[in-house]
Order: sequence, then structure tokens, then C-alpha cells
Amino acid sequence: MDKNNISIVILAAGQGSRMKSNKAKVLHNICGKPMLYHIIKASKEISNDISVVIAHQKEKVQQEMENFFTDIHFVVQDADNFPGTGGAMKNVKPKNEKVLVLNGDMPLINADSLQGFIDTDADIIMSVFDLQNPDGYGRVKIESGEVQYIVEQKDADADELKISTVNAGIYAFSKDVIDKYIPLLNNDNAQEEYYLTDVISMAKKDSLVIKPLIVDEEYFKGVNSKKDLSDSEIIMQDRIKTHWMMQGVIMQLPSTIYIEESVTFEGECIVENGCRITGDTLISNVHIKSGSVVEDSVVKNSDIGPLAHIRPASYIEDTHIGNFVEVKKSSLKGVKAGHLSYLGDAQIDEGTNIGAGTITCNYDGINKYKTIIGKNVFIGSDSQLVAPVTIEDDVMIAAGTTVTNDKIEKGALAISRNKVKIVKDFYYKFFGKK
Ligand code: UD1
Ligand code: MG
Repeated sequence: MDKNNISIVILAAGQGSRMKSNKAKVLHNICGKPMLYHIIKASKEISNDISVVIAHQKEKVQQEMENFFTDIHFVVQDADNFPGTGGAMKNVKPKNEKVLVLNGDMPLINADSLQGFIDTDADIIMSVFDLQNPDGYGRVKIESGEVQYIVEQKDADADELKISTVNAGIYAFSKDVIDKYIPLLNNDNAQEEYYLTDVISMAKKDSLVIKPLIVDEEYFKGVNSKKDLSDSEIIMQDRIKTHWMMQGVIMQLPSTIYIEESVTFEGECIVENGCRITGDTLISNVHIKSGSVVEDSVVKNSDIGPLAHIRPASYIEDTHIGNFVEVKKSSLKGVKAGHLSYLGDAQIDEGTNIGAGTITCNYDGINKYKTIIGKNVFIGSDSQLVAPVTIEDDVMIAAGTTVTNDKIEKGALAISRNKVKIVKDFYYKFFGKK
């Protein structure tokens, strides 16, 4: 595909009042990334000339997208004087003859689903789908196979509201059509906005060729509310999980598993029900047991959980992590941490056993400190390791010890323990019975 044949314009300037949020609509996340990110990512696969129209929270939208993409043109809409999807097109200067206009609230599109707009020839190609419940969408009037006009829900009469064919919100225009009709739009409608959709009826009057392209809601669903956001996320989750299962990952009850698009799997992996895996995470030959959470981490040749929490910047290799273990910003290689632990800012080496209830005390209320544990160390249950501390190879820490030293030397035993006092028959005296 020649990416120089087509320009893409993404309309992302609206406030999205139906989202009932202070956050710009296009910045709401789906599978861990803003909606607009997904649209730009798909667009970059088919075009080298991408313009994003912004206005509402324009600095924030631009900044967030520049974290991901470098070669996008941002165009500012004069939304006070020219509100609406047509107003959004006023300052856009696409380079190529064919221009694909996408709404910024359809995160489910991908390069394949846009192919039909590239392959078809017409002055205007517009996307339509049939819905049982067309609520919220512009209705498309088609007569003898030809598109006549689009009417927005708020402007539609009773007969038009019954039309089940709706405008999906993606159009391919020839550049001439944009140059000619955008300046002619008016705001004579219920919302007093400049509607891009009015280009259709104007072009029809001039006998231009307008072709409807029937598209699949799975790819072109618009997000206007938080309910739409969650419905679209379910569809994208299904795609992500299907992809990884086809690559050989076993998932139990996948509908209960959440995996972000930035997660990668390698080798033979099993993910049990109720797991959440997010951020820049690599999972390689790992069994993740039910109810576990892994965030922004690398886990290799290990088993995790059930009910374990691997927090960002952890590196775990050849390791067993059991239930109720929390690991944060730590590196564990060849370690066993079977039960009930907090391991934060730690580096733990091969052959080391972390007993139940071990806690790295890494925070003094102001700063965080490191815990370094060597090879073949045995940390007894219910030990506290007050950081900063280095525990050298072959050390034993007795159960219940609070280590406050900076260093425990190789081969040593560390033990801090009060002698147990025995008071005979105390129970019977206390409760007054025998
Ligand atoms: C729009 C279409 C409707 C279609 C639906 C498909 C119009 C007039 N209506 O309605 O026919 O069925 O999409 O999802 O186009 N935007 C701007 N500047 C603005 C207003 C909106 O850039 O001044 C952007 C928004 O950020 C959004 C997109 O345009 O990404 C669509 O706006 P939205 O308000 O969601 O339009 P709909 O009411 O959904
Ligand atoms: Mg919309």
C-alpha cells in the first residue's frame, strides 16, 4: 500500500459532554491507551499525512499524543465561531487527493477495516451500518441505492427517526469536495453547529457520486458515553485475548481476564481466570494463577499467584511467587516467595527462600531504600528487613527477626527474639474455670 496516496483527518476537538467528565472524550482509555491513540495507530498504517483536529483541552490532547507519535499535524479548530464536525474541517490542509475523515471517538477501527475506503472510487464514500437501536447516530436516507442526505437525531422528524441505517462517521472525500463544500456549510440546525454530514446533501444536489460503504459495527462503533466506552473495551479485549490464544497462550474463562494492548507473551503461558495484566509487560513461559495482577513488569519461567500483585518495574525470573505476595520495583532471580510478603525495592538472588510474612521495610515516610539479598539465603517467617540493608550469601534469618543492621555477613545467622515466658495455669485463672 502506498501511504502517500491518502491523507487522514481525525476529528478530536469536541468536548464529549455525554461522557459526563472533565477529561476530553478522546483521552479516555480503552485497554490502557487513550481512544485517540488507537485511531492514530491504525491511521499510520495507511497514511503518511495525518492531521488531528483539536480544540477542547488542546494542549493536553496534543501533549499526550506526542508521548506516542512524533509526525502528526495538530490543527486547531475555531470551536467558538465554528462548532461542530464541519467547523472542525475548516482549518485542515490535507496534502493528498483522497482524504479520509475519521471521528476521534471510534477506537475500534484498524487498518484492514479502512481498506474499503481506499479501494473504492467515488467523489464521496461514506460509511453506514444498520442498527436495531440507532439511538444517537445520524440517520442516512438512501433512495434507490443512492445516499440522499444524513439527518442528525436531534434534527430528525418521526419518519427519519425510524431509519435504521446510520452514519458510522467515516468518510472518504476527494480534496476538491472538501475545498468546495466546507466553506458553504451553515449552522441552521437544532445544535447550531456546522455539520460535516451536510456536505452529503450539497454534493448530491450537484450530482456528485456518493457511495455508501457498509461497515461492521465491531470496528466502527462510536463512543459517546461511559457505557459505549465499556462496550468498546469489551470488543477490544476480545481481540487482544483471541490474538494471544491463537499464539498459544492458554486462558481460563477469558471473559474474566483483562489484558492491555501493550502486553506481550512468549512461549508456553497459562493465565487463569480473574487476572489483570497491564502496561509494558512481558510474560514468557509463565503460569499466572487466578486473581493475580501484573503491571509494567517482566516475568520469565515462573509461576505467580493465586492472588499475587506484581507492581511496576519488577523483573522476575525462575521464581515461585505464591498467594498474597506483593512485589514492587524488585528483581527476583531463582527465588521462592510462597506466601504473604511485601518485597519492595529489593534485589534477591538465586536459591533464596523468603518465608511467609517477610516484609521489606523500604520506606521511612520520606525516602525509599533498597534491600539486597544474596544467594541461598533463608529468611524465616515473619521477618522484617529494615532497608537499606544487604544480606550476603548463605545467611539465615531466624523466624520473627527484625533486621536493623546495614549488613549481615556471608554465612551468618541473624536472630532477634524475646524469650518466651510461661505462666502456668494462667488460662484457668483468667477465665475462672477448669
Ligand atoms: C457524528 C455524526 C453522526 C454519526 C456519528 C457516528 C455529525 C454532525 N454527526 O455524531 O451523523 O452518526 O458521528 O459516530 O458529524 N468534533 C470536533 N469538533 C467539534 C465537534 C466534534 O472535532 O466541534 C469531533 C469529536 O471530538 C468527535 C467527532 O468529532 O471525535 C464526532 O463528534 P460527536 O459529537 O461524537 O458526533 P456525534 O454526535 O457522535
Ligand atoms: Mg460520536
